[in-house]
Amino acid sequence: MLKGRNLIEPMDLSVEELDEIFDLAEEIIKKPSEYSNICAGNLLATLFFEPSTRTRFSFEAAMLKLGGKVIGFSEPTSSSIAKGESIADTVRTVSCYADIIVMRHPKEGAPRIGAMVSEVPIINAGDGGHQHPTQTLTDLLTIRALKGGFSNLTIGLCGDLKFGRTVHSLMKALSRYENITFILISPKELVIPDYVRKEVLNKNGVKYEEVRKIEEVIHKLDILYMTRVQKERFFNEEDYVRLKDHYILDNEKMSLAREDMIVMHPLPRVNEIAVEVDNDPRAVYFKQAKYGMYVRMALIIKLLGLR
Ligand code: NCD
Repeated sequence: MLKGRNLIEPMDLSVEELDEIFDLAEEIIKKPSEYSNICAGNLLATLFFEPSTRTRFSFEAAMLKLGGKVIGFSEPTSSSIAKGESIADTVRTVSCYADIIVMRHPKEGAPRIGAMVSEVPIINAGDGGHQHPTQTLTDLLTIRALKGGFSNLTIGLCGDLKFGRTVHSLMKALSRYENITFILISPKELVIPDYVRKEVLNKNGVKYEEVRKIEEVIHKLDILYMTRVQKERFFNEEDYVRLKDHYILDNEKMSLAREDMIVMHPLPRVNEIAVEVDNDPRAVYFKQAKYGMYVRMALIIKLLGLR
């Protein structure tokens, strides 16, 4: 039963529960009109303490398409946070008004604090460099729809593997499936954090290799997951400038890849994928954004207990 639950990190959902959400998302894609009023009378609040376009809009669009309503802020300076209110008090108060809360915060663990005091389900929409479970739902639904499942895949994760929360969440979620191989492509300054190496990869015996160049490995991949260098998590501008254009996927590199490889990206893209790649049928990142809205529709319905 998913009714009333929180989603703070990907492991909060079992493999079976994930399938339930994906089945519902696929059902909504097929028959959207059957769901266009299911959330009538429900209110979703978006508390975004950190900038976002996709995630916030996709949640808002999801709720509106389900016939529900939305309130929220995208700028903490316009809320009582600016007066010094704690996260816990903000969430507790908003949970008196809303039926479900989506929260993004630059501090790791903030949504968990929110979940401890909230009277309604809390969805983590990204906490610092830590986790981003609804991006993971988006990524998994995309993989399921386009690759037919999650087992026996070789997945290249490229870019900022140190600060990229989408990568941390995705690795965690995928580590539960059979015969997954990760190829981690990053500069040495941006390799995965130790906790991911120990608690996700080593603990689950997941196969992985670490390389520095896309060209060396692209031919082996079923999926290439590109990420942006996370500017906002750098302590100094100099390091960011040095690393930001380290990887640029272009048509020349794509020519080395398999015909059935897909290129994913959580977006926003900066320079890491040349615009010319957008026309390649293997580039699925905008499709992925669309799956993101549908999977959020399914998640909202499930957490509200409406299916
Ligand atoms: C990601 C995020 O916020 O972590 N964006 C998103 O939610 N689609 C990726 C990023 O910002 O690079």
